[in-house]
Amino acid sequence: MTRINGETKLYGLIGHPVKHSLSPLIQNTLSIVMGLNNVYLCFDTPPGQLEKKVTSLIGVGVEGFNVTMPHKEEVIKYIDELSESALYVNAVNTVFVDKGIAKGFNTDCEGFVRSLKENFGYGVEGDSVLMLGAGGAAKAIAVGLLQDGCKKLYIQNRTLKRAKDLKDSLPDFSDRIEVVEDIKLIPEDVDVIVNTTSVGMHGELEGKSPLSDGYEFNKNQRVVDIIYSPPETLLLKKAREKGASTLNGYSMLFWQAVIAFEIWNKVKVGRDELDEILKILKENGVMI
Ligand code: ATR
Repeated sequence: MTRINGETKLYGLIGHPVKHSLSPLIQNTLSIVMGLNNVYLCFDTPPGQLEKKVTSLIGVGVEGFNVTMPHKEEVIKYIDELSESALYVNAVNTVFVDKGIAKGFNTDCEGFVRSLKENFGYGVEGDSVLMLGAGGAAKAIAVGLLQDGCKKLYIQNRTLKRAKDLKDSLPDFSDRIEVVEDIKLIPEDVDVIVNTTSVGMHGELEGKSPLSDGYEFNKNQRVVDIIYSPPETLLLKKAREKGASTLNGYSMLFWQAVIAFEIWNKVKVGRDELDEILKILKENGVMI
């Protein structure tokens, strides 16, 4: 149990809503297991209150904070320096207040790739990847995949223009990005499939798949869904039944948090500590 005292360092999450966020559980577990005197809290920040909240947090001496919906892009206005990934994505999910300088990162990019490496043993270098969806999460994942060296990134989205806009927003990588105009034209030989759409998510889209019924998975594929509720979407179930390796959204959520933690605390979370953290999270219903 963390003992809060005069040396406790403050971290937090800015977003709206934040009530159901898993970040406090993950970050406080990381601090406890790593033996660091930190506390991580949620700061609900409705639209229109972002500047006041960022200024206040930096004013009280917060060491770092995460940023989630709907503020990941707007927060850039209040940041002094941006990492390469944050620049590419034009969005920040992690701020490190380092000697008074607010540095912005996007750990969703590296977090996604790290989740693949930790779970499957390797990333996407030389692979072809199909990404379903072209929203905010898709852009961070695309940057992570391209930075890791994927050979080809196919993007398919319900609204074609958004997929084209996503490609156009990443000119440094455009030779490796291909927009798939129709779901029936998806190449068969993709190594990795990533769902970044809401299709399959708990609620009215639960039980639906972002891929058409006729799609044939194969056992060499890795199929990833960034949805974690339900923990196994229809997409993952169908892929698993065909022998593909699957991964749900808890993993990306966890690894983007670990990377933020490592930036803030200038530490590496080791294998033994990870095992203990994952055990505690599992006891709390987070099945990574
Ligand atoms: P996020 O930041 O989580 O990525 P977003 O920017 O709203 O959220 O993106 C949601 C993604 O899910 C988009 O790719 C969206 O497709 P459109 O660009 O066509 O809107 C996709 N999506 C949401 N509901 C969908 C549905 N019922 N069928 C297909 N795609 C859907």
